[in-house]
Amino acid sequence: MYEKLEEVNEIVKKCTKCGLCKTRTNTVFGTGNENAEIMFIGEGPGADEDREGEPFVGKAGKLMDQAFLGLGIDRSKVYIANIVKCRPPSNRTPLKEEAMACLDYLRNQVMIIKPKVIVLLGNTALKNILGDEYGITASRGKWIEKKGIKYLPTFHPAALLRDESKKIYFWEDLKLVKQEIEKE
Ligand code: URA
Repeated sequence: MYEKLEEVNEIVKKCTKCGLCKTRTNTVFGTGNENAEIMFIGEGPGADEDREGEPFVGKAGKLMDQAFLGLGIDRSKVYIANIVKCRPPSNRTPLKEEAMACLDYLRNQVMIIKPKVIVLLGNTALKNILGDEYGITASRGKWIEKKGIKYLPTFHPAALLRDESKKIYFWEDLKLVKQEIEKE
């Protein structure tokens, strides 16, 4: 384990632990405040992220930005990363072995950032972090505490683009997050 995000990022940039390294343009490590109180974990980079090397810069990211703005969630309080650091071809769901190969990097990021809460965006984040027994429809909006970390699963913003009726739930869940970090 490394003590600085930059050190982890340097290792990730050269990573060849799974097949996704063969098709990536850029690794997408994560972005935001090293002392963030809220960490968001998505699935994996899409085409825009692969090109720019930053998470959630495409349509799904724009939706997240709108929600942050609407709810008054300060970007400076947030860190955003993904389960896998390289784009799965055709944006398919990352395979279990790809997620597992990448997970130590994410663990190291969490260890350095020490967020108050972690928001799990969609099933891929939820299942790979908390276990396959969880499902996003049943778990969203409910706090789950494990090893002293508070997790809140919610829908992936890309799911909101496919189904507008889910937007309200995403907003409600982000409101819970905001309340949580404003406590005490
Ligand atoms: N979807 C994700 O899960 N992560 C990104 O970075 C972009 C889109």
